[in-house]
Amino acid sequence: MTELHARWLKSVSRRRALAGFLGFLVGAPRAGGQLDRFRDHSRVGGLAEMRDVFDFEAAAYERLDRATYNYTARGGGSEFTTRRNREAFDWVGLVPRAIGEIGTPQTATEILGTRMRFPVMLAPSAAHAVLHPDKEAGTYAGCKNASETPMILSHVASMSFAELAKIDGGPLWFQLYPRKELEQNREPVESAQNAGAGAIVVTIDQQASVYDRAVHDRNLSLRPRRPPRLDGNDGRYRFSSGRMWYEWSLFENLRTMVRVPMLAKGILTREDALLAVEHGLDGIVVSNHGGRTLDYTPSSLEVLPEIVEAVAGRIPVLIDSGFRRGSDILKALALGADAVCLGRVPRWGLGSFGAPGVTRILEIVQQELLEAMTRCGVASLASADGSLARTDFP
Ligand code: FNR
Ligand code: LAC
Repeated sequence: MTELHARWLKSVSRRRALAGFLGFLVGAPRAGGQLDRFRDHSRVGGLAEMRDVFDFEAAAYERLDRATYNYTARGGGSEFTTRRNREAFDWVGLVPRAIGEIGTPQTATEILGTRMRFPVMLAPSAAHAVLHPDKEAGTYAGCKNASETPMILSHVASMSFAELAKIDGGPLWFQLYPRKELEQNREPVESAQNAGAGAIVVTIDQQASVYDRAVHDRNLSLRPRRPPRLDGNDGRYRFSSGRMWYEWSLFENLRTMVRVPMLAKGILTREDALLAVEHGLDGIVVSNHGGRTLDYTPSSLEVLPEIVEAVAGRIPVLIDSGFRRGSDILKALALGADAVCLGRVPRWGLGSFGAPGVTRILEIVQQELLEAMTRCGVASLASADGSLARTDFP
């Protein structure tokens, strides 16, 4: 070994320093960020910088832990339906008249006795405590300050309906996951009604997909996968038969305890819409649960026209799944929906900035709706009709 070689081995050469630094980088938590699809948002914007709903999603991604972000963002299976819910808006064009109506767009409406300044409501969504310490109280306060946007509280919320209803705020509806034993539905229904629920929304499309979420969590977060439930025959096959007892008579049975308007959420066919009318429902929510239940369903927007036609104005038709922009809302109104519900949108608001985030994200969507109406020359919700929308569904 020459002296030069020995000195080179002992010195902190550029090569070793570089190797050490690279080793540090690989081990550093920020290195994982290079795989993030939001990497361009390496500096999280402040509330005043948020321009649209998609900015809020990026902010929520930065601020929430991965499992919580995934729980909100993800869908079932290959997420085809979740993607299709967004893509569907590309298949509906808005065709304005060159000279439109005169006046300022009017957006106020009333649905089943609930007055709202915009045809926009909050879809029920579970467990806001994971998003922000203010939980649903933060969401509700955010809604109040955004023109008292009505909120549908989830059956599996982090706060009870009675607790939330004590807070001064806008209209509140309650969402029910029905139980097979009729009497088990009485307590949630009664306590929501006694605390002033404006309507009860019965969700019938979920209760069978809890494991989809576990699969995503396994792949996309560090949370260990829960073992399959072994407390029944179905546990081994990783599905729950939670909804496979429903019959349409459920609604007549629930009616014995429901004194306020009752809606069914999760309708995707004209046949089911007609059955909902037949079984005395006061309204329906056209929904595929944001693509979180069965994958490969159509988007809710695609099936809206046939459902509106079948219902023929007898009961209000609400819709959710994929709505992010004001123009999305205008498209659904033009295709005959009475109002639109937002599921993930308020969660991005709450998860990134708390109650003020909910307010701002709703204001942005409301403002976008007004802009879209203005650009289309549509001065009222009634004049947002089929002549405005050119559909090209595959
Ligand atoms: C939901 N959704 C839902 N629906 C319901 O009836 N009860 C519930 O508890 C929940 N929980 C829930 C949690 C999370 C994280 C999400 C994203 C959604 C479905 C929700 O009401 C609505 O149907 C969809 O969210 C609509 O799709 P977008 O707006 O999220 O695209
Ligand atoms: C969900 C359930 C709670 O979509 O509806 O996560």
